[in-house]
Amino acid sequence: MEAPVMELYYEELGQGTPVVFLHGFPFDHEIWQSVVPLVAKEARVILPDLRGHGRSPVPDGVYTMRQMAEDVVQLLDRLEIEKAVLVGHSMGGYVSLAFAHAYPGRLLGLGLVATQSAADNPEKRQSRLKLASSIKRRGMKPVVSDMLPKLTSRQDLLPPLMEVMLRTSPVGAAGALKGMAERPDMTGLLAEIQAPALVLTGLDDQLLPLENVKMMAQMLPKGWLVEVPETGHMLMMEAPEKVAEALCQLVQMVKI
Ligand code: MLT
Repeated sequence: MEAPVMELYYEELGQGTPVVFLHGFPFDHEIWQSVVPLVAKEARVILPDLRGHGRSPVPDGVYTMRQMAEDVVQLLDRLEIEKAVLVGHSMGGYVSLAFAHAYPGRLLGLGLVATQSAADNPEKRQSRLKLASSIKRRGMKPVVSDMLPKLTSRQDLLPPLMEVMLRTSPVGAAGALKGMAERPDMTGLLAEIQAPALVLTGLDDQLLPLENVKMMAQMLPKGWLVEVPETGHMLMMEAPEKVAEALCQLVQMVKI
């Protein structure tokens, strides 16, 4: 049985057009901290922790991308926000696409950061399920060894990344892994997204095929691609000024 909608922990900064930042797996809202002050000069930034992560509730079970999108809708309702820009990193991007599909009328704009619309192939699905069961026995260390070397080539960013990963709940991480494994391919739905959509990618991202990212930008009716050289999967930490500049352009386009 699906867990009910979760009341998410969030932080907030700035005023104006609401921009909700959704972190990736297995992180929390702090992953955005270098970008946030730059965007909050021009917008109302809302930073939730997705279910199972950070300070939000950690239910048992499979966290589907749609369920996580429902949690975000509940947060918008709580804040009496009718429409927002959604910025999603990696897994947060999968959640943003689920939101865009289910609630097109509540989407002002979309920022897709180091993410893709494609589903997992069978090998990836299997490896996620294997990782989910080993986390339950061994804690977060297997996730750290699997992911950390692929996240960035910036050695100075590894300790803070590891710290956030290790404090994520194994139950939450397992729920997210299982949910990502069963997420549907959203590629066919991109053509229906009418909101302006910025696709941001690090040119050295080792976790995403660049051709998937480029294809996504082409298929979004109002999509455009910003490639950030010399950055990997964690480009918002590696090049916060460039990422913030692109996001501020998006905010300017949809300003309310
Ligand atoms: C993330 O950063 O959220 C993950 O790399 C997403 C994934 O494993 O597909």
